[in-house]
Amino acid sequence: MTNSHKDPLTEKIKLINTGIQTMTSPSTSQQWALITGASSGFGIDFATLLAEQGVNLVLAARRTEPMVALAASLRAQHNVQVHVEAIDLAHAGVGLEMKRRTDALGVRIDVLINNAGYGIFGDFLEQPLEKTLNMLQLNMASLTELTHVYGKAMKQHGYGKILLVSSIGGYQSTPLYAAYSASKAYVVLLGEALNEELEPHNVTVSVLSPGITATAFLAVSGQKATAYQRLAMMQSRPVAKIGLDALFKGVPSVVPGIVNKLTIFSNRFTPRRLQSKIAGMLMKN
Ligand SMILES: NC(=O)c1ccc[n+]([C@@H]2O[C@H](COP(=O)([O-])OP(=O)(O)OC[C@H]3O[C@@H](n4cnc5c(N)ncnc54)[C@H](OP(=O)(O)O)[C@@H]3O)[C@@H](O)[C@H]2O)c1
Repeated sequence: MTNSHKDPLTEKIKLINTGIQTMTSPSTSQQWALITGASSGFGIDFATLLAEQGVNLVLAARRTEPMVALAASLRAQHNVQVHVEAIDLAHAGVGLEMKRRTDALGVRIDVLINNAGYGIFGDFLEQPLEKTLNMLQLNMASLTELTHVYGKAMKQHGYGKILLVSSIGGYQSTPLYAAYSASKAYVVLLGEALNEELEPHNVTVSVLSPGITATAFLAVSGQKATAYQRLAMMQSRPVAKIGLDALFKGVPSVVPGIVNKLTIFSNRFTPRRLQSKIAGMLMKN
């Protein structure tokens, strides 16, 4: 057999693989992304960065007005299709509800950005329990539902990308953000495990764990920025870009920014009790 001779079986496999590649990895302009929490902060930057790549969007959050304005600007600037879905995601059943809505739009979601979430600042016992449970529903249970429902569809289709937005708060217990940081620890562990489970199905899951970033997060959580937070504050667009870059490269977990990376790294040499004490101190002015 000469080098120029092409083995028919190998050629056939190559053709099949090329076919699968074309079928399962649509070009970005054919892709659709669902972004939760698209009315503010990171959500707006995820939407803008994806639209710049030609990805079509479904924006989901409670407040319609900012999403309608964002949708109009992205359509005009980037020639993408954008749908707006007003939805309170802090309820059981939102995974199926959201899927029903995207199916009704005739849209297959290739990229899921699980970004909606919020924190509650203050003594755990002083917060109304109902408020804490609402946060846990949104940050953990609804994120899990969406990941389950869309993950299944992506596996069936043979292609998908899922980004989970966690926090560096998920890397150590954080007094005054006790339930919030615990919810984000869940997100880190869920995402990293799912990346392993779903990789064979050509579905990648990545976790973005930002530190303090200039969005409405602090105002919503009820905290005034501490000296440490003012020093470590990042802008949301570069953080969102780091998350999307990780997602499209299939990196399981990413912590943006040198200060945040050092914080996480230093945990390796610090007893857990001391980690909590330091985290608690950094949350106080
Ligand atoms: N900024 C930071 O310092 C920081 C650091 C680490 C992690 N994070 C995480 O980043 C993610 C995005 O937050 P952000 O910083 O961009 O804050 P943000 O500006 O307050 O945005 C939060 C988004 O979540 C949506 N949301 C909140 N409750 C919702 C609900 N019940 N149903 C549907 N959507 C809801 C909000 O939309 P509506 O109010 O219109 O519903 C908004 O679009 C969160 O998961 C947060 O935990 C933020």
